[in-house]
Amino acid sequence: MDKYIVNGGNGLYGTVNIQTAKNSVLPILAASVLTDEKIVIRNVPAISDVHNMIKILGCLGCRCTYIDRDVEIDASCSDCCEIPSVLARELRSSVFLLGSVISRFRKAKIAYPGGCDIGLRPVDLHLNGLKRLGVRITESNGYISCECEQLTGNEIMLDCPSVGATENIMLAAVKAEGTTVIKNAAREPEIEDLQKFLNYIGAKVSGAGTGTVVIHGVNKLGGGEFLPICDRIEAGTFLIGAAMCGGEIQLNGVNAELLSSLLHKLRENGCKIRVKDDKIMLRSDRRPYSVKSIETQPYPGFPTDLQAQMTALCCVCRGNSIVTENLFETRYKYVPELKKMGADITVIDRNAFVHGVEKLKGAEVIAHDLRGGAALVIAALAAEGRSEIFDISHIDRGYSDFEYKLRALGGDIVRVAV
Ligand code: EPZ
Repeated sequence: MDKYIVNGGNGLYGTVNIQTAKNSVLPILAASVLTDEKIVIRNVPAISDVHNMIKILGCLGCRCTYIDRDVEIDASCSDCCEIPSVLARELRSSVFLLGSVISRFRKAKIAYPGGCDIGLRPVDLHLNGLKRLGVRITESNGYISCECEQLTGNEIMLDCPSVGATENIMLAAVKAEGTTVIKNAAREPEIEDLQKFLNYIGAKVSGAGTGTVVIHGVNKLGGGEFLPICDRIEAGTFLIGAAMCGGEIQLNGVNAELLSSLLHKLRENGCKIRVKDDKIMLRSDRRPYSVKSIETQPYPGFPTDLQAQMTALCCVCRGNSIVTENLFETRYKYVPELKKMGADITVIDRNAFVHGVEKLKGAEVIAHDLRGGAALVIAALAAEGRSEIFDISHIDRGYSDFEYKLRALGGDIVRVAV
């Protein structure tokens, strides 16, 4: 387990190249099992969730290479339908493989998925959707086993717009017999990207980004190369970091459209933001004003994956803020760590009541999950004095070259083996 040592107080100045989206790459990797043709995914971030997903594909018998940020998958020799529990428990997105593996083998077996400890994270919507397509499912001893003679298209109504369930059902339906309609589908950009990839290799999917996704089953899928969309959460993390530390940064390779709810809030904070083509420029030259309320919502609302980072920013704003986490039950595990840095936050149920302080103070803190860990890093960079951030393997799951990118902006941060 490594740790970060941070000496806070520097402003952030310079440019950052934004990685491709972790939450787009992962379902696309899962989708590669659906075809016998070679798939190449370009510019894939070197993060542990990707490495683990590639290991899982290898266990399924796929031939995978990861060279110069390009991932090449040949699933033609895939011959196993059981996802190893030690890997499944590492990442939530292992569950997406259910749809692909069932489509290929007519059966699948997986341990309950892992991932960030941010809530109950049931998979009932995934399983109910697969059952609607004709899959028989048994759950015992922590495993989910699936079987079906033939996947058959159907209409599926999701109780809530689950990103993973929408993607899992799409993957199971692309080669099903007939048409599948997913109602109350999630609208995240990563789902539109998955649709774009699937159609690129020969599927017939439409409606992603609206509340209704329609999939017409096809017999065969092809291969090809694909460049996923930018990681809007990495981009938002850097923007919030610059707002918190002060300075002037430019993000390259980013689509501002995907961040409009955050940009609106950062302008309320008093940040000067300009957008030109695939660049976002942000300048923060004074202590930010508080925004009265931040409520996480499914896309296009404020993203839950930026909730922790935004709460950290609220801690140093002039005035009070209320943050409400509407998607996950326990996504405030980072709050006690921020309080060690002098933050004035009270959490009651899904609400965090924040009273802004002039400055945070460096402290020894622990990362408990991916986005909460990233929030601690930007808080430490803005704080006065030295911080140590432990268990940063959580952060390695979703941010590639994080400390290098922050150092290039003038942040005083080093990684040290513990
Ligand atoms: C995806 O998780 C993302 N992960 C998460 O990002 C993101 O926070 C989340 O979507 C919401 O945007 C990936 O794409 C790999 P959900 P997912 O299903 O699919 C409930 C990050 O930091 N639900 O949309 O697991 C669930 O409990 C990660 O990059 C059910 O009740 O999220 C939650 O309250 C963290 N039953 C709500 O839906 C189900 O079967 C939203 O979850 C599935 C979900």
